[in-house]
Amino acid sequence: MTFEASIVTRERLLHSLYEAAELEHNLMCTYLYAAFSLRDGAEGLSKTEAAAVARWRSAIIGIAIEEMGHLAAVWNITSALGGSPRFGRDNFPLDPGILPAGVVVKLAPFSEEVLQHFIFLERPDKSDEPDGMGFEPDFKFTRGVERPRLTPMAMDYETVGVFYATLERRLRDFVARVGEDVAFCGDPALQLSHAEVPLNGAEPVICIKTAAAALRAIVEQGEGAPADSAGSHFQRFIEIREELATLKRANSHFSPAFPAATNPILRRQARAGSRVWIENEEAAQTVDIANSGYGLMLRLLGYSYLVPRPEEDKTLAVGLAIGLMRAITPLAERAARLPAGPSNENCNAGMSFTALRDAAPLPPGASARRFFVERFAELQDAVAALAEGGDARVAASARMIANLAHRARHRFSLVARKPETAKPPQPVPPPVPNATPAPKPGAIPVPTRVDGVDYVEGEKLTLIYEGKKCIHARHCVTWGPNVFLANVKGPWIVPDAIDAERLAEIAHVCPSGAIRYKRKDGRPDEAAPPVNLIAVREAGPYAVRADIRLDGENAHYRATLCRCGASKNKPFCDGSHHEINFVASGEPPSKQTDALAVRDGPLAIDPELDGPLQVRGNLEITSGTGRRVACVTQARLCRCGGSATKPFCDGSHARIGFRST
Ligand code: FES
Repeated sequence: MTFEASIVTRERLLHSLYEAAELEHNLMCTYLYAAFSLRDGAEGLSKTEAAAVARWRSAIIGIAIEEMGHLAAVWNITSALGGSPRFGRDNFPLDPGILPAGVVVKLAPFSEEVLQHFIFLERPDKSDEPDGMGFEPDFKFTRGVERPRLTPMAMDYETVGVFYATLERRLRDFVARVGEDVAFCGDPALQLSHAEVPLNGAEPVICIKTAAAALRAIVEQGEGAPADSAGSHFQRFIEIREELATLKRANSHFSPAFPAATNPILRRQARAGSRVWIENEEAAQTVDIANSGYGLMLRLLGYSYLVPRPEEDKTLAVGLAIGLMRAITPLAERAARLPAGPSNENCNAGMSFTALRDAAPLPPGASARRFFVERFAELQDAVAALAEGGDARVAASARMIANLAHRARHRFSLVARKPETAKPPQPVPPPVPNATPAPKPGAIPVPTRVDGVDYVEGEKLTLIYEGKKCIHARHCVTWGPNVFLANVKGPWIVPDAIDAERLAEIAHVCPSGAIRYKRKDGRPDEAAPPVNLIAVREAGPYAVRADIRLDGENAHYRATLCRCGASKNKPFCDGSHHEINFVASGEPPSKQTDALAVRDGPLAIDPELDGPLQVRGNLEITSGTGRRVACVTQARLCRCGGSATKPFCDGSHARIGFRST
């Protein structure tokens, strides 16, 4: 048997995809590093300069998030080919040869040179944009080989676009040789999708068409489509360059960024080179915690690729990873504001993004959950101790990490209690105390209270009333005045005063889910609605009808959730919108209204700390009058009351300082 070494093998494709993952991952880190170094309004900038720098920060972080989407696309293609995606990378600055000579990667604070370097990296193939000063390769080298090898070998490329075009061509060759079914043999349930993460690149890859579309989307988002580069990374960086030049002409002393270190490291360097050892202990501790959070984030993302959808571990791991990204941002910004130490005068520290020696995913199951809970607890303790120093950014990070640590403990323990199964969890009926005899006709039964929930025994059903969820919609007292006695002191519910079927119907119209029931006569209990709905109430809450999983817990089929930001019983509405005179339309504009193929199933609602409700699952969002506003499988719904794009979050919660607890 002979083997033609020039043919494209699966191993060769995986090798290139690992390089693609490292490339996107490295670019993301360098962009974030530059953004973290930018000053804000109170840090020596004029009003005009501060506004411009805030725009740049948001643009660069937006680009970094899109790089994260590219990473997800590359990971999905890797997984579709049966591979395990690559989460590791080499430490900064990259040694020559890891990427082509023309792609120099190092951490550096925002400057004209760094901006020019970003433009160079994202340039289209025919562009003559030069690289930024200081980013010349140490020496020229080529990685390509003359003869084809069975061992996967690196290739050379001038631009990122050329690299991806070559990758697509090789992928097509492989598919032509082995067939599409054989090529894309990975389990699609392992990939990330919009059900887990709201990133553009998290599209399912199941065939050459979807794989090629993912590769082209990466290039077009970076350098721009052949006919139009508006909105591309390349163009957005050029816009920043122009604005920076204008502001520099107006004020030659304009300094938009702190002098963060170029290539900071946490330990004395083993050999001489362009690295900055962070000797200042406070800065070192800050970077240490930020790095550890970053490492845990990679572990969680890696884990998510080994857990098939719809297991809860998958969305939970991704949600915690995204939370960590947010939590380490203030630490990274803080590091760029602290001096590096005596050996490097006039130089600040910076988050070093130190990579784990091996970022291989942990085997799924109980041991991984234990690892994550332990690691979050370690991070929580470390950042809490650092926050005692009184810095506001560290305190913000400590608050976020404490919330994530709590969520990891709580949610992983919930998962652990359930049998490990690929089936979605089934609703668990509420606890019903030992049945007490039904009251005599005419008597008002005394409820049994368990954890603040009243259980009232009737002949054919137990009526359940959870007062802390009640929003006083008054359907009960108006539809069943003989059952639900208004304006009485003490017991007020008489289940047997009406036919049980009718009573069940009245319970179903209670929007908050405060009234529920458990049948005792063999008749079916309330069922999950056939279509998951969230209605946006005029100047009021979200009215949810679905098989609700609220923060991982079964929350029955109805709930009213606060969207004004003022409830004292968040995430539930407590009527505070009346007190604050909340103004918000119940008739938001319609968009994205194509009906979903599947309209029911579990609806996960995860309230983010100081942020929106993250909703995942099949969902129709309607206006208060029932008009379709959007049909989605994931959404971030505003609950601070401040979004200009209600019901969707637009990030205003950060601007207005919304506190959810
Ligand atoms: S939660 Fe209101 S804008 Fe994000």
